[in-house]
Amino acid sequence: YFINVSIGTPKQDVHVVFDTGSSTLWVRDQIFDVSKSSTAKNLNKTVPLQYNDSGNASLTIFSDKIDVGGLEVNQIFGISSNSSLPESIAGVIGFGPTDLNIEYDNRLVPTPMDSFYRSHQIPIEVVGVDLRPTFNNATQVANGEVTLGGVDYDKIKGKITYVPITKDSAANKYWGIDVSGVKYGDKKVYTAAPAIVDTGVPFILVANEIADAIYSEVKGAEYDPVTGLYIIPHGEIHNLKGVSFTIGGRDFTLSPAQYLVPTDVTANHGGNPGIHYSYISSWGPTSDNPTIIGQKFLENYYSIFDTTNRRVGLAT
Ligand SMILES: *[C@@H]1O[C@H](CO)[C@@H](O)[C@H](O)[C@H]1NC(C)=O
Ligand SMILES: *[C@@H]1O[C@H](CO)[C@@H](O)[C@H](O)[C@H]1NC(C)=O
Ligand SMILES: *[C@@H]1O[C@H](CO)[C@@H](O)[C@H](O)[C@H]1NC(C)=O
Ligand SMILES: *[C@@H]1O[C@H](CO)[C@@H](O)[C@H](O)[C@H]1NC(C)=O
Ligand SMILES: *[C@@H]1O[C@H](CO)[C@@H](O)[C@H](O)[C@H]1NC(C)=O
Ligand SMILES: *[C@@H]1O[C@H](CO)[C@@H](O)[C@H](O)[C@H]1NC(C)=O
Repeated sequence: YFINVSIGTPKQDVHVVFDTGSSTLWVRDQIFDVSKSSTAKNLNKTVPLQYNDSGNASLTIFSDKIDVGGLEVNQIFGISSNSSLPESIAGVIGFGPTDLNIEYDNRLVPTPMDSFYRSHQIPIEVVGVDLRPTFNNATQVANGEVTLGGVDYDKIKGKITYVPITKDSAANKYWGIDVSGVKYGDKKVYTAAPAIVDTGVPFILVANEIADAIYSEVKGAEYDPVTGLYIIPHGEIHNLKGVSFTIGGRDFTLSPAQYLVPTDVTANHGGNPGIHYSYISSWGPTSDNPTIIGQKFLENYYSIFDTTNRRVGLAT
């Protein structure tokens, strides 16, 4: 999921990853030509940025004007010449907590959301997120919308369930929340576990014990190291039940149709077209990392990232 950010004077549009799992704005130097911006200022410092297992970037810190959907501020951000992330990623805009951002001058750099809030352009520091699954392999359509500074109530039905940031130390640096139970159908298969709500991760990743608990209910299901997904035997497809995550006392359920990989995109994930895969996967055989509530969950529920009240909201 990419959003359009304009940087510099005159404005240069860049399409960057919309990521609630990190907090830094950066762009590749091949995409944003800093020499063409009259307002760019080189702050003459280089810092490393690490995206856990998925890659890194070395950032030269600049400040310049940015514009996100009409909100304009002067922002400190990074320019990278050598990120190891896929070439298709021109940059990232982080909507995570300030504490995860880079430092400049021995101080944490305000995130773009912090900057919009401090410049009084948004009344509350809240991001509302609507991600929509893409069908028929159409990767270039606008399939979602982000609201900066509030919630788009036209996009939700019923009440919003808000939960505070978790106390769990592995998750509370992020948009971390407590999941009080995991159910397969009506059966509770796992108890409490912290989770991170992360728009930058495609799947739903659970600790190995949770994956075991879910998939021991599905005869013949097994982890596939090639795709990093679980394989569901063909004969079990019609028996599958919903998987629910209990958050703030409410069950957020993904139906089999919502967690099975559509057959027209299995190849995109390195899978075999004749095989059924599930987007609810594990971090790997030994990991006890927090659950990552990624895109395949967030395409089914509206999510709200509320810095002002230190809470996350989820709604139908
Ligand atoms: C960065 O270095 C350049 C070249 O030495 C200098 O002109 C500029 O003022 C420096 N920027 C800052 C913010 O110190
Ligand atoms: C990512 O890596 C950092 C430091 O390398 C670690 O503190 C953090 O827990 C990791 N995040 C996840 C979600 O594993
Ligand atoms: C960044 O990633 C590249 C490619 O995976 C690796 O060679 C390099 O050592 C990494 N650098 C850091 C600082 O982690
Ligand atoms: C990108 O955002 C800028 C500023 O909001 C806007 O002027 C421009 O039309 C947008 N470009 C695209 C391709 O959406
Ligand atoms: C980028 O350059 C920095 C500094 O030279 C280096 O530490 C880092 O590993 C490089 N990253 C990649 C992906 O090559
Ligand atoms: C879907 O799109 C991707 C990326 O453009 C492409 O690699 C893949 O072959 C396409 N798959 C199908 C089934 O058309």
